[in-house]
Amino acid sequence: MVVNFRRFRKCQVRQLMMTCFVISAVMVYWESSDSNLTNHVKSYSLRHLLSSLDFISANLTISRGEARRFSDHQYLINHEQKCTNRDVLLLLFVKSSPENFERRQAIRSTWGNEAYIERTLGVSVRVVFALGLHPSPSQRKKLQEMLHQEDEKYNDLIQQDFLDTFHNLTIKLLLQLGWTHAYCSNAQFLMSADDDIFVHMPNLIHYLQEVRRSGVKDFWVGKVHRGAPPIRRKDSKYYVSEEMYPWSMYPDYTPGAGYVVSKDVAARVYEASLTLNASLYIDDVFMGICANAMGISPQEHAFFSGEGRAPYHLCIYNQMMTSHGHVKDFHELWRLATDPEVQKVSLGLLGKLYCTVAKIRLLCVPQFQNTYPCRAAFL
Ligand SMILES: *[C@@H]1O[C@H](CO)[C@@H](O)[C@H](O)[C@H]1NC(C)=O
Ligand SMILES: *[C@@H]1O[C@H](CO)[C@@H](O)[C@H](O)[C@H]1NC(C)=O
Ligand SMILES: *[C@@H]1O[C@H](CO)[C@@H](O)[C@H](O)[C@H]1NC(C)=O
Ligand SMILES: *[C@@H]1O[C@H](CO)[C@@H](O)[C@H](O)[C@H]1NC(C)=O
Repeated sequence: MVVNFRRFRKCQVRQLMMTCFVISAVMVYWESSDSNLTNHVKSYSLRHLLSSLDFISANLTISRGEARRFSDHQYLINHEQKCTNRDVLLLLFVKSSPENFERRQAIRSTWGNEAYIERTLGVSVRVVFALGLHPSPSQRKKLQEMLHQEDEKYNDLIQQDFLDTFHNLTIKLLLQLGWTHAYCSNAQFLMSADDDIFVHMPNLIHYLQEVRRSGVKDFWVGKVHRGAPPIRRKDSKYYVSEEMYPWSMYPDYTPGAGYVVSKDVAARVYEASLTLNASLYIDDVFMGICANAMGISPQEHAFFSGEGRAPYHLCIYNQMMTSHGHVKDFHELWRLATDPEVQKVSLGLLGKLYCTVAKIRLLCVPQFQNTYPCRAAFL
């Protein structure tokens, strides 16, 4: 009797500790994702209660004429022939800003080097930079001159006459969709990316070639935010008012740091954007609304980092697709990640074992840095 009683107590204590552990893990997770717990619970439960979010796009639908006002901007720099007479596998739009010359330069000489990609991977990729006008009129003239010079040399800037600000990012998305529709609809895939993201081009190309071979349609891949709530804290960069977006959750979407869609998805998202109110300035959420209107949902890839940054490790380079928050270390990371030694490290049973252990240690421990999920360790 005494023994049983003790065992019972022991069990309970263990259970209690387990529960505490799980709760604190959940709290840490929520804390680190920088959001309001109640909002998350609300939006997450909503996501599982609602079978369809059609009411969102229905509510945001406006006439073509009204929608046109959002995308009605003149091209200041354009390259209409970028994709003609070529079998373009990937059109990659980098969202840049006039003053970010150094970032563009770093991308051109590392992962965005079209000639290198063509030579080493045997595919045609087009990398272009989407820009608006510098918001400060006093700096604009000088910067425009510099942009024209830069473009003369590299022929890869696409600029329209809207102000290049954070709250005009959806306008920049409309630029990307409109330009793709007009001048590059033959590209098999469209990618949209920030200019501080690292793309492991060889890994990405091999992956997309496989996807293409299997003839996939409705393809939209990235890190996926499921049932995320709008941020209502006024001091947040991502603050969205009730008036602009009255519902308590967003449709599933992929963070704008980097995602890829197939050309049929690009065409349908463009089509949807022609009749939606684009005043919601969170561009990736707006993309999610367009896609949702067309019945397209994103799929998660463990090695698309979203807002996170990849750990520096040979076993990670092998599989990484994107990593966010790089500028200074582009060259270093490019050199390390494309080193032929990288492929060798995970070869054979021993290599696989070594890499799995290394990845578990990097990804499956509690951490405060946002990076690839633990399950990426087992892929
Ligand atoms: C969480 O949300 C509630 C209501 O939505 C709000 O009253 C509260 O201040 C928020 N808390 C934080 C820490 O943002
Ligand atoms: C959209 O939602 C808002 C707020 O709920 C409502 O006031 C408006 O009438 C709706 N519009 C349409 C077209 O359904
Ligand atoms: C977006 O660009 C338009 C066109 O240049 C401009 O009128 C508007 O003020 C910009 N919006 C923001 C929030 O910068
Ligand atoms: C689009 O939505 C905003 C609110 O977010 C509203 O003020 C505006 O009138 C809407 N535009 C049209 C054309 O309905």
